Amino acid sequence: MKYEHTDIQSGAYKTLDGKAPIVIAHRGASGLRPEHTLESYDLAIDKGADFIEPDLVLTKDGHLVARHDRYLSTTTNVADHLEFKDRKTVKPGHEGADWFVEDFTLAEMKSLRAIQPRRDRDLSYDGQFTVPTFDEIMALAQRRSEETGRRIGVYPETKHPAAFEAVGLSFDDALLETLNRYGYGSADDPVFIQSFEADILKRLRPRTSIRFIFLTEFPPTDPFNKIAAYADGVGPYKGLLLDENGADSGFVTAAHNAGLAVHPWTFRDDALPDGFVGNGEDEILRYLAIGIDGFFTDFAGTGRNAVTKLNP
Ligand code: G3P
Ligand code: CA
Repeated sequence: MKYEHTDIQSGAYKTLDGKAPIVIAHRGASGLRPEHTLESYDLAIDKGADFIEPDLVLTKDGHLVARHDRYLSTTTNVADHLEFKDRKTVKPGHEGADWFVEDFTLAEMKSLRAIQPRRDRDLSYDGQFTVPTFDEIMALAQRRSEETGRRIGVYPETKHPAAFEAVGLSFDDALLETLNRYGYGSADDPVFIQSFEADILKRLRPRTSIRFIFLTEFPPTDPFNKIAAYADGVGPYKGLLLDENGADSGFVTAAHNAGLAVHPWTFRDDALPDGFVGNGEDEILRYLAIGIDGFFTDFAGTGRNAVTKLNP
């Protein structure tokens, strides 16, 4: 695919609210540090992220911790911990044997160290950083907000809520309670709750005015006006926004017409689409030109540069 940002209009935001698109640090500064660590989120803030993005899962004793997956082998050094060798098991929905977060207490999770899952990235931080709790992430956001004078946004994703419910673990109370405790409790606060599962968004909708984002990898089965009943925006796979020729697919306009913001994922400097002409900043600029309201990137600094270039 070949596409370029020829129709970019500097100074003109085509976002739903007319404000600058938001830079969402996908798993922190995950292009530069092991993902979902305090060090990764902290660096992303330094790089100019508006929001930090923790993917959340639940420990055996019900604590929210940041991991992309229920299984632990690709993002932690659990395989090196011989005391946990008997926890390796096979579970439905996962290919092969692994260690699963719902079988570990928070104290046990804290004994692990994060590693870089993309082995073609910098591995020099492997084994140094712990798995953070959501509470620790919120405390970081609060501290960095005070230090920087800009309110750091948080963009938690509930990972596999139905699967956790099936083993007696729930996100609902812990998620809302933690956000509220740090003052992130209304639609005016810089916070979005996201999920690929509509059920949890529908369940939480009456309990909070925090904005929700419904994630989708494929064209959504619900029409946008139906999604708007339980979400404030959609987080699509970025490929849905362009057609096979790299032209605007109309996705953003249709979502905006239903009052939904659009935050596509994931932009990676080191994993550009096949045949793409340009660098990571160019790719983001192409999407900014069609009016996205924000975007997830592993390289928050590149994202910040692209938004700055759009409206210097
Ligand atoms: O949450 C948006 C995006 O992060 C979804 O992809 O798999 O990286 O969580 P994933
Ligand atoms: Ca995510």
